[in-house]
Amino acid sequence: MNVKKIAVIAGDGIGPEVVNEGIKVMDKMAALDGTIQFEYTYFPWGCEYYLKHGKMMDDDGIDQLASFDAIYLGAVGYPGVPDSVSLRDLLIVIRKEFDQYVNLRPIKLLNGAPCPIHHGSNENINMTFIRENSEGEYSGAGEWLYKGKPEEVVLQTGVFSRKGTERVIRHAFEIANKENKTVTSISKANALNYSMVFWDEVFKEVSKDYPNITTYSYLVDAAAMHMIMDPARFEVVVTSNLFGDILTDVGAALAGGMGLAAGANLNPEKKYPSMFEPVHGSAPDIAGKGVANPLAAIWSVSQMFDFFGYANRGKEILQAIEQIMVEGKVLTPDLGGNARTDEVGDRIVQLLDQ
Ligand code: NAD
Ligand code: IPM
Ligand code: MN
Repeated sequence: MNVKKIAVIAGDGIGPEVVNEGIKVMDKMAALDGTIQFEYTYFPWGCEYYLKHGKMMDDDGIDQLASFDAIYLGAVGYPGVPDSVSLRDLLIVIRKEFDQYVNLRPIKLLNGAPCPIHHGSNENINMTFIRENSEGEYSGAGEWLYKGKPEEVVLQTGVFSRKGTERVIRHAFEIANKENKTVTSISKANALNYSMVFWDEVFKEVSKDYPNITTYSYLVDAAAMHMIMDPARFEVVVTSNLFGDILTDVGAALAGGMGLAAGANLNPEKKYPSMFEPVHGSAPDIAGKGVANPLAAIWSVSQMFDFFGYANRGKEILQAIEQIMVEGKVLTPDLGGNARTDEVGDRIVQLLDQ
């Protein structure tokens, strides 16, 4: 039996609500498969923990997580704790410390999912976003000088190392190579005269190792427009941390909304645990009502199966997500239904049985 140790950080707001459903699906799929099993350890970290203990996670939190095979995270952040504290001290620390430099976010319009553009279809909305996830605009480097004084100055430094830039771009090419896809780089060298000029150079260099792959390079503003007007242009996409953050919410909108957007924070070398989480946040506006859409969190579970080498199982989970939407009977309000979070999880489990 392949036993995988999973650290569960359900977190804040709708985090615990959607993670419960993801775990139902993990256990069901493990039972159906018969060769894999999950052992969960729950960590109570998040904003409530912060209000009690003055910190988002234990001082040795990273050490505690290091021995797990994967981390399954719900969402972090809640009114009452500044986002700059809650996210930087938990989510972003984990991504960085575990060198999860690939943030893999599928933007795929499944059958039955709503699409806000009239020309959107499951043929032309099918992208794999690779967001740099360990440095860039999120490096945390900077200074706050003369705080509160008239001469106050704030510096927020983007950090783009050769190693960090090259490896994430190469990862995108490797995926495109396997899947026979094009690679698109998104940057902004017309304004960011160091970081993005460098990014474009590295993209060109790496592309030389893959002469058979067609490449495109867009400025981020134009890319945002093209994603909506002509999404078919994008297959495998690689971009910086901040641009990837913003564009994957655009992608989420194209592919059915935040309730359907999944993500995996990968350390491809498997030196450290990877982390699977929906793209959405804690959704304070609907938290505690039992109506959050768990499908994004469940799609992240599908990515976890892929990562563990059970791609067929991952595919079956994705098919169940598609089926529940095609049926259209058990959906949460964001998808036009009136089902509750747990009813969606239960229906996915039933569909996996069929
Ligand atoms: P959000 O993703 O929490 O919510 C944006 C909108 O989408 C809200 O209207 C919400 O109701 C809706 N929504 C999100 N997920 C949904 C789901 N599963 N089902 C149905 N509707 C859903 O983004 P926000 O409001 O900007 O941020 C709220 C908090 O979450 C902030 O503290 C933010 O920093 C944090 N955040 C955390 C993560 C993370 O942990 N990965 C990601 C994004 C935001
Ligand atoms: C995401 C989130 C995070 C990010 C925030 C909460 C720090 O928006 O995972 O997309 O910007 O990476
Ligand atoms: Mn985001």
